[in-house]
Amino acid sequence: MENNWDPGLAGQFTARLLEWKDATPRPMPWKGVRDPYLIWLSEIILQQTRVEQGLPYFERFRARFPTVESLAAAPDDEVFKLWEGLGYYSRARNLLETARYIAGERGGKFPETYEGIKAMKGIGPYTAAAVASFAFDLPHAVVDGNVYRVLARVFGLVTPVDSTDGKRLFSEWAQKLLDIAAPGVYNQAIMDFGAIQCKPASPACGQCPMQSFCRANQTGKVDELPVKARRLAKRVRYFHYLVLRYEGKLLLRKRTAKDIWQHLYDFPLVESEQKEMDLAQLQASPAWKTLVGKNSPMLFHCSQSFQQTLSHQHIIARFWEFDLPDPWVLDDAEYIVEERENLTKFAFPKIVDWYLKKL
Ligand code: ADE
Repeated sequence: MENNWDPGLAGQFTARLLEWKDATPRPMPWKGVRDPYLIWLSEIILQQTRVEQGLPYFERFRARFPTVESLAAAPDDEVFKLWEGLGYYSRARNLLETARYIAGERGGKFPETYEGIKAMKGIGPYTAAAVASFAFDLPHAVVDGNVYRVLARVFGLVTPVDSTDGKRLFSEWAQKLLDIAAPGVYNQAIMDFGAIQCKPASPACGQCPMQSFCRANQTGKVDELPVKARRLAKRVRYFHYLVLRYEGKLLLRKRTAKDIWQHLYDFPLVESEQKEMDLAQLQASPAWKTLVGKNSPMLFHCSQSFQQTLSHQHIIARFWEFDLPDPWVLDDAEYIVEERENLTKFAFPKIVDWYLKKL
């Protein structure tokens, strides 16, 4: 297979794609929307997120924050709470920062050029192309995982999509294939085609309108494309949480460090190189010495182990529950004391949420 551009094939591809779109309606609440704020919001929510998962979040955000000004005026914690469960919280931070920039510096007006959109925080080439084409019909092709897969297969492109060459090559192909008469419609069609027809696993090749000219289909390489150069080894981390209770109250911690889950809440944490710890090791940790000190817990229970997989890390956590006879001594603003029944106000990482639901 070669990376050769074939104008005849390109024309067939675009024509079949648009026919396929007409025959395969996929209603979604942001389709047909021209408000750049709502388009941007939907695209940020959908990054790294399946449409079915992102949809209710989009509806909740749209209902609560119908305009960029309303989002800009929201307290940080409210936005993180609404974002809870979506993961990749840097998206929520950047969403707020950009909303505040648009409301504060631009009088609430979204930029109307690709470059102007892309210059804002948290907006890369993909999101900029999506907003520019959906809201303003500007001729910028979206390139995301769906597009990599569709182009790699149909045109037999074997350059790794995660290489510098690959990124450039796929962007060039995507841009050449774009229907400049209707960029928004074309972009939406190729993403939908990737999501429901040319799926990552078990694509529906038997009913595919591209089957007769799809290079991957002709050469039996559907399962091998797109090519990825490296599959990242995930870092494994072991978390031992101190769940400290005193008279029905719990000690929570706001995560402020530049690490995973920044701005979310969890408990005092002892991170270890080992999966298992004993009580003596836990009691030797700095967190224990500061927060529990000479206070001698009356009861304790250690939870089952919980696991959460993030994009680059795998977290394994246990929760150690202690009832304290005396209140803790706190000299640090990162800790807060909260009644058990008020915990729903806080945004927690999923792994903490799973534990709390089991409690
Ligand atoms: N994933 C990200 N953006 C999308 C969109 N506009 N339509 C379908 N899937 C998407």
